[in-house]
Amino acid sequence: MNLLQVENVHTYYGKSYVLQGVSAEVRSGSVVALLGRNGVGKTTLIRSICGLTPPREGVIRFKGRSIEGQPAHRISGMGIRLIPQGRRIFPSLSVEENLRVALRPQGSTGWTVERVLATFPRLRDRLHNRAGKLSGGEQQMLADGRALVGNPELLLMDEPTEGLAPLMVAELGNVIARLKGEGQSILLVEQNLSFALEFADHTYVMSKGRIVYDAPPDELSNNAEVMARYLGV
Ligand SMILES: Nc1ncnc2c1ncn2[C@@H]1O[C@H](COP(=O)(O)OP(=O)(O)OP(=O)(O)O)[C@@H](O)[C@H]1O
Ligand SMILES: [Mg+2]
Repeated sequence: MNLLQVENVHTYYGKSYVLQGVSAEVRSGSVVALLGRNGVGKTTLIRSICGLTPPREGVIRFKGRSIEGQPAHRISGMGIRLIPQGRRIFPSLSVEENLRVALRPQGSTGWTVERVLATFPRLRDRLHNRAGKLSGGEQQMLADGRALVGNPELLLMDEPTEGLAPLMVAELGNVIARLKGEGQSILLVEQNLSFALEFADHTYVMSKGRIVYDAPPDELSNNAEVMARYLGV
């Protein structure tokens, strides 16, 4: 069964018509990459799924139940957690407080604050520091850890490599590989194509508020026209 099914979703910001009939799915246990240039609507699709910018039309099903009218906190409580673009950790709270406020012990993935600290030892060194004082890479780890302690069935990652140094990108890659190995379902928005293709079981390419292409990653890599036209590579 599809864990997530997006059907013909139309989303607006006021009068601005952004998502113009988007359909996509995430199978349980898979990593799905959502690709496309700046401003095509990737974050808007993520926000539509989370209930932050609900669609005006269309259906979003999570484990078969339609969720598109539900408030964001309810959707989060159902097991969909977001690692937002730009991290958005709470800068004035400590690392520990950032993790504690996000705890959701139920769920089958078994994440605890302790396990996050074992996975990201740098966070343990910074446990009582204000999150706003962390480096970009450390803030990304905190954002990842904060989503993971929510024990999500579906993890939404919005451009996690954006602005990270190469070493941090590699470290994040190790974490995603591990999550994938544990069967974590992930919808990964990326502009770093090679990074996304490393993990993706399936890819969607967006342009101007629509999905213009979807295929397994090897098929996308062999499609020079789609790569050049929609991804600028
Ligand atoms: N809060 C908002 N109010 C009005 N328009 C918005 C808002 N957020 C985004 N938009 C517009 O919606 C369109 C899609 O934006 P979105 O952020 O979804 O793109 P994106 O694919 O995530 O881009 P990026 O790769 O730069 O993050 C853009 O034209 C953007 O200017
Ligand atoms: Mg975005």
